[in-house]
Amino acid sequence: MTIPSHIVVIGGSGGIGHAIVQKLLSLFPNALVHATYHRHEPSFQAPNLKWTQLDITSSTEISQFGLQFSRVDWLINCVGMLHTPEHGPEKNIESIDGQFFLRNIKVNTLPTLLLAQAFFPAFKVSPSVKLAVISARVGSIEDNGLGGWYSYRASKAALNMVVKNLSIEMRRRLKQATVLALHPGTTDTELSKPFQTNVPEGKLFNADNVALDLLNLIANSTPSDSGQFWDYRGENIPW
Ligand SMILES: NC(=O)c1ccc[n+]([C@@H]2O[C@H](COP(=O)([O-])OP(=O)(O)OC[C@H]3O[C@@H](n4cnc5c(N)ncnc54)[C@H](OP(=O)(O)O)[C@@H]3O)[C@@H](O)[C@H]2O)c1
Repeated sequence: MTIPSHIVVIGGSGGIGHAIVQKLLSLFPNALVHATYHRHEPSFQAPNLKWTQLDITSSTEISQFGLQFSRVDWLINCVGMLHTPEHGPEKNIESIDGQFFLRNIKVNTLPTLLLAQAFFPAFKVSPSVKLAVISARVGSIEDNGLGGWYSYRASKAALNMVVKNLSIEMRRRLKQATVLALHPGTTDTELSKPFQTNVPEGKLFNADNVALDLLNLIANSTPSDSGQFWDYRGENIPW
């Protein structure tokens, strides 16, 4: 494995994102870690950690952020939404709201494409690029047996297509790149909080363990794995 020296974590203030930032600093003490937050800057600091505020729904902010980097080895996108204070995921077609659907696409789908575009010049300089995105098993079309959650499922299914497409273009244009969609498992964060009562015993994971699992997968992946959708154990999830 090539040790990364320049790492970007998008959404480092979220439950999983924050655990990933902390684990990265202990696994790669010589790397520079740039992490973004949205509403509140986390109090956690380290000499080789830099926080930047970024609204992932702003294409201007994304492209300006990308311009700050001359080289990036790993980019991990941990941003995501399932519910807002006004709106939960849909149980039926009566609860469909167009604005909520589009908000899911703006937060869960489009940013990864814009990040790949903004960081492409910085990726070109790296000897080993990892672009990893946290998706969700419920974005799998084949695995969908329960229905519901229209906006979240559709936004993650579209994200998965973005990841697959990027992996195909990168295979041609950036042979040292590995592009992955990762499912963390149900993890104890703000995102899953309203739905934790239905989680079977032992199946609600701690963000620190999930972060370690996902970072091990990213570290051990190679360009021949590019375009895969893996769960936290490294098992393939059908698209
Ligand atoms: N937790 C689970 O069980 C689970 C299961 C499957 C998949 N996932 C996926 O895992 C990823 C991480 O989720 P999590 O569980 O860590 O949730 P979380 O704790 O709610 O974190 C979500 C992060 O996304 C950020 N965010 C939301 N809107 C944003 C925007 N417009 N611009 C920038 N950042 C924004 C949030 O920042 P603010 O709070 O400041 O807005 C927060 O840092 C998501 O993609 C989620 O879909 C989670």
